[in-house]
Amino acid sequence: MPGTNHELEDIEIELLLEGVARYYGYDFRNYALASLKRRIWNTMRAEQIKSVSALQDRVLHDPACMERFLLALTVNVTAMYRDPNFYLAFRTKVVPLLRTYPFIRIWHAGCSTGEEVYSMAILLYEAGLYDRCRIYATDMNAAVLSKAKDGIFPLVKMQEYTGNYLRAGGTQSFSQYYTAAYEHAIFRPWLRDRITFSQHNLATDGSFNEFNVVMCRNVMIYFNKTLQEHVHHLLYESLSMFGVLGLGHAESLKFTPHEQHYAEIVGGERLYRRIA
Ligand SMILES: C[S@@+](CC[C@H](N)C(=O)[O-])C[C@H]1O[C@@H](n2cnc3c(N)ncnc32)[C@H](O)[C@@H]1O
Repeated sequence: MPGTNHELEDIEIELLLEGVARYYGYDFRNYALASLKRRIWNTMRAEQIKSVSALQDRVLHDPACMERFLLALTVNVTAMYRDPNFYLAFRTKVVPLLRTYPFIRIWHAGCSTGEEVYSMAILLYEAGLYDRCRIYATDMNAAVLSKAKDGIFPLVKMQEYTGNYLRAGGTQSFSQYYTAAYEHAIFRPWLRDRITFSQHNLATDGSFNEFNVVMCRNVMIYFNKTLQEHVHHLLYESLSMFGVLGLGHAESLKFTPHEQHYAEIVGGERLYRRIA
């Protein structure tokens, strides 16, 4: 006696994710199921496909469909100085620590279209530290990374971003960091001088350097517990002793295997220092 439709769909989803991982190398098998399901249903609606198995067939045989599916599966929402208090805490509590280092390596893991990377570059420039920094900005999605490399954002966003910048402790005129052209804000190319953008998948790729600061904000909320633990281990391994870890507002180190290896730098701001 076959199981329910619900069970059947779970099996189909498992097979779809298995196929995608094995054929394309994108491993979504340990993403949080509820949000994954919503995104799969959205794709089925957009592609006018009736079953998950039919979607599997399409995705595996049509790389263009896979590209659309990839964009649908990952949430790329981001903003400059997202959670301004986080950046204010970084400016007041972390920058003084960084001043003691001759050279500073920073990793933004899951940087999406780069808004938080440019925010950090400006913050470090204003702190007089940018020349001493090397920022590695990575995401698994090549399409968002290519936007990040361009550093061109909608001009309509600049009012909101200027407000965020000021709340984050910005001291200059924010408009000096971009030129406006055709409804777009084109960020100054020198802001990219110390940034390396590259593809890196937190689920499947290893550590690639040792960093003084690792930012991985609003990425692990989409992962299940197994993948969260895997990524926490990767980030821990990638941080030098006394290095700083920054997470998103809805994320924390609580109940992770590395909880006791960090001390909170600022209560509530998800900024931690590796102490063991
Ligand atoms: C919601 S955005 C967060 C962007 C930025 N960190 C922020 O806080 O505004 C999540 C990003 O994580 C990326 N991502 C999802 N799974 C990933 C993985 N396995 N490896 C690397 N990046 C991943 C997505 O492509 C997306 O750009």
